[in-house]
Amino acid sequence: MQTMAIIGAQWGDEGKGKITDYFAKQFDYVVRFQGGNNAGHTIYVEGKKTVLHLIPSGILNPECVSVIGHGVVLDPEVFKVEVEALIDKGVQVSNKNLIVSQHCNVITSYHKLLDQMRDSKGSQKIGTTGKGIGPTYEDRCARKGIKLIDLFNKETLKTKLTRLLKEKEVLFKELYSVKYSSIDEEVEKLFELGKYLFQFSGDTFSELDQALSKNKKVLYEGAQGVLLDLDYGTYPFVTSSNTSVGGIYTGAGIPGHHLDEVLGIFKAYTTRVGEGPFPTELHDQLGVDIQTKGHEFGATTGRTRRVGWLDLPLLRYVKRSSNLTAIALTKLDVLEEMGALKVCTHYEFEGKKIEISYPGLDLSKVKPVYKEVSGFTTVFKDGEISPEVQSYLDMIENEAGITVKMIAYGPNRSELKILKH
Ligand code: GDP
Ligand code: IMO
Ligand code: MG
Repeated sequence: MQTMAIIGAQWGDEGKGKITDYFAKQFDYVVRFQGGNNAGHTIYVEGKKTVLHLIPSGILNPECVSVIGHGVVLDPEVFKVEVEALIDKGVQVSNKNLIVSQHCNVITSYHKLLDQMRDSKGSQKIGTTGKGIGPTYEDRCARKGIKLIDLFNKETLKTKLTRLLKEKEVLFKELYSVKYSSIDEEVEKLFELGKYLFQFSGDTFSELDQALSKNKKVLYEGAQGVLLDLDYGTYPFVTSSNTSVGGIYTGAGIPGHHLDEVLGIFKAYTTRVGEGPFPTELHDQLGVDIQTKGHEFGATTGRTRRVGWLDLPLLRYVKRSSNLTAIALTKLDVLEEMGALKVCTHYEFEGKKIEISYPGLDLSKVKPVYKEVSGFTTVFKDGEISPEVQSYLDMIENEAGITVKMIAYGPNRSELKILKH
């Protein structure tokens, strides 16, 4: 296998970081292609925790080159802090194993402020991470974004920042009455950060193009999940990038090649952070128990993650919309000793039976229909997958028409089992 994508198959936090880290040793490159530091990817190696927001989850494997592609929105301050924290922990990080596209759009303090103001004082609350993701992608689309390469020239930076602030300061002054940094302060800060980032910056498209033509192996690491995709997700309660497989083609490039495997990462139940519809959400004590046992608190904002049952209409949809070739089912251990489990097999909506979701279906109006399945006290029995867990896996495979290629049963790197090669 030369190329593989790791795609979140729900609303994020499925365990992508752990699975990416596991596979990284088999690849020459691990590439982030969208999103920014709204992501929080957690990896445990021998009990030691690392949370990555911006740096690809291949970084703990020194042989593998981590790449931040041009589709990522880059907060240079967060980048520096994250690299320094990794180095402090003894992780090998240099421009030999970390390259950032100089074509990335940069998140400035104005983007962060606008994001936070809108979500707290605006007319529609999305429950964003407040990291400036949406406003930065907006400026990219409006063709006035600041690219990483712009940080290397003070004059260019000042001209572009001044243009960028012109409209935003109307909002800061008139609509939100909030203080914001002066152009000179912002230029100084970004220019200094640019000096630091220069050593890591490069032409990642050509790097990957050449690597692929030399038969190097490339792993693409998605952030968020398909249901948060700007086009395929539960709009408007989504993030501002294409988190589905399509984001790879625009956000990093896969020149002249196809993806050999698209592995969807799927929790054995469902979680969601922030606002938006969630058909199988649990509002009872069981939901709290799963949330507590699964440590369902955001890796980026610390917010509580909402919890619900596994949702097959959404899995079938995500499989189709991102061309998943298989799934990795994570957090099975969390369901141990939770009693009988429920699985949503289909929805009822306007008198119709819906077996597969679709873009624009108003998930706040569907009625989830469940079937009850046997719970389990242990994932493994006598070293083998217990019969109840096996029947849970068989049910998912049959109902969604997809192979469960691997399972995870704990946060540590080693706590996973490949079922099918
Ligand atoms: P990501 O954003 O998809 O990388 O996922 P997060 O790191 O935000 O959230 C997943 C959480 O579950 C992290 O705390 C992981 O350490 C943890 N985790 C991953 N896989 C498993 C698993 O199989 N069992 C348990 N109990 N925890 C897991
Ligand atoms: P990882 O990669 C879970 C959610 C936010 C909010 C919505 C929009 O760790 O799975 P944004 O700040 O992106 O404009 O927020 O998207 N969100 C995530 N939820 N996991 C993530 O990333 C997320 N990144 C953004 O909570 O609902
Ligand atoms: Mg996360």
